[in-house]
Amino acid sequence: ARVFVPCDAAAVAVGADEVAEAIATEAMTRGIALDIIRTGSRGALFLEPMVEVETARGRVAYGPVGVADVAGLFDAGFLTGGDDPLRLGPPEKIPFIARQKRITFARCGIVDPRSSTDYTLTGGWQGFDRALAMGPAETIETITRSGLRGRGGAGFPAGIKWKTVADTAAPQKYIVCNADEGDSGTFADRMLMEGDPFALIEGMLIAGYAVGATRGYLYIRSEYPHAIATMTAALQSARNVGRLGRSVGGAGFSFDIELRVGAGAYVCGEETALLESIEGRRGQVRAKPPLPAHKGLFGAPTVINNVLTLAAVPWILKNGDGPYAALGTSRSRGTMPVQLGGNINRGGVFEAPFGMTLGELVLEIGGGTASGRRIRAVQVGGPLGAYFPPALFDTPFDYEAFAARDGLIGHGGIVVFDDTVDMAHQARFAFAFCAHESCGKCTPCRIGSVRGVETIDRLLAGDRPADRLALIQDLCETMKFGSLCALGGFTPYPVLSAIKHFPEDFLAETQKVR
Ligand code: NAI
Ligand code: SF4
Repeated sequence: ARVFVPCDAAAVAVGADEVAEAIATEAMTRGIALDIIRTGSRGALFLEPMVEVETARGRVAYGPVGVADVAGLFDAGFLTGGDDPLRLGPPEKIPFIARQKRITFARCGIVDPRSSTDYTLTGGWQGFDRALAMGPAETIETITRSGLRGRGGAGFPAGIKWKTVADTAAPQKYIVCNADEGDSGTFADRMLMEGDPFALIEGMLIAGYAVGATRGYLYIRSEYPHAIATMTAALQSARNVGRLGRSVGGAGFSFDIELRVGAGAYVCGEETALLESIEGRRGQVRAKPPLPAHKGLFGAPTVINNVLTLAAVPWILKNGDGPYAALGTSRSRGTMPVQLGGNINRGGVFEAPFGMTLGELVLEIGGGTASGRRIRAVQVGGPLGAYFPPALFDTPFDYEAFAARDGLIGHGGIVVFDDTVDMAHQARFAFAFCAHESCGKCTPCRIGSVRGVETIDRLLAGDRPADRLALIQDLCETMKFGSLCALGGFTPYPVLSAIKHFPEDFLAETQKVR
């Protein structure tokens, strides 16, 4: 029998390793021969550790499974899909999974992430083979027509970025994958790398072929040891099967990828700071222009894309731009792996075409708060994203709709807060976060963030609160327009949205109605 247990960091954090071991021990005691396959996670984190067994009628899922449940599962005959209170049925029919359109995460939780055989058997490398057949120019055209935009947050069209690099003449070009997923409440890059690393490798390979780059760098944050281990193994395995290295696919095109591990600075997720870091310098932002597409890593034209952008590429090449572009809303095409977190009932990765409303995502899919209390605010797009009250739950999840309401979808993280949250404290946190993570290159961010914390403290202490509030708003204007990068430039989003939607929290502590 074959049993599948995730080795994803989130599943491991709630005991997946111990459960896998308990299953192995129990099988041995009972004299049953078992193959335990460690997969990535399907993304329904509220069901982890979720164990699946292969039966004659397909896979059957059980969860969340604890070590103490294992003997009972064997008694219930779970190896043949037997009934048990933990039985969830076929995983693809679990409502949280059934409602998704899984493109980027199609293989996650299903395949053995370290098996290049699994990858090939599930349609892997076909995107690259099609790219080779159609040539670099048509490959870029396909990505442009698909409407794929940068999933790191800014939503810049991937095809145009690639074309810029392709059109810039240079002896050496690079592909850099930004896997420095630093936004609070985001984990899709990590889950993809731990669940389907070859998709990312294939995406980088296709990008390299399209723009004429022979070298790629994968920059992963140090906080992701499981992703680093999985990617390291997958890179070696891709070399072993001739998908990286010299003359990939026998086509005379050479490409290899080096993995670099960050050192724990949020700002290194900013593309130019990331380049500095790869080059061996302190992670400090460079002024743009020049764009990295013209003069990036080691001064060479460089494509920098996020994990999710590159991981969507093989599917688009394999299935064509049409099916991808057919999904989504006006200028936000395809799917977005939304990450539901914070005080939420059903947290995890939920991949769907752009256009579901924030309310559908948080209430229907996420099931409201975990605490059972009323939702007061939802922060979308990481620590620098705006706070939205339930009154804005009709906002469709796409780039333009959020921008129209002074928000951003960023990297797709949604963090839920119940009615115990104090929004002035959240605004203070945004300034404090910025002060802590600022690279120090420009004044509005380096000094503004520190003054922001002090000013909110004075407001809360009752020291001329109305004046302080006006000062904070003024400071936000300066940071928004005067900062060199998005860290200082976007800190005003959480602050101003908190003031706008929750003004009652910006009173002196003694005046607040509790
Ligand atoms: P940006 O708008 O300056 O650039 C977006 C991308 O397009 C960059 O790669 C840039 O080099 C490229 N680009 C712009 N114009 C171009 C042109 N004419 N030709 C070719 N390439 C061009 O945005 P930035 O500062 O890179 O990113 C800001 C975003 O980062 C925010 O929206 C925020 O949501 C997101 N963010 C994401 C985090 C994460 O953990 N994923 C963390 C913090 C912020
Ligand atoms: Fe550095 Fe902040 Fe300026 Fe960005 S905004 S360059 S992080 S000081």
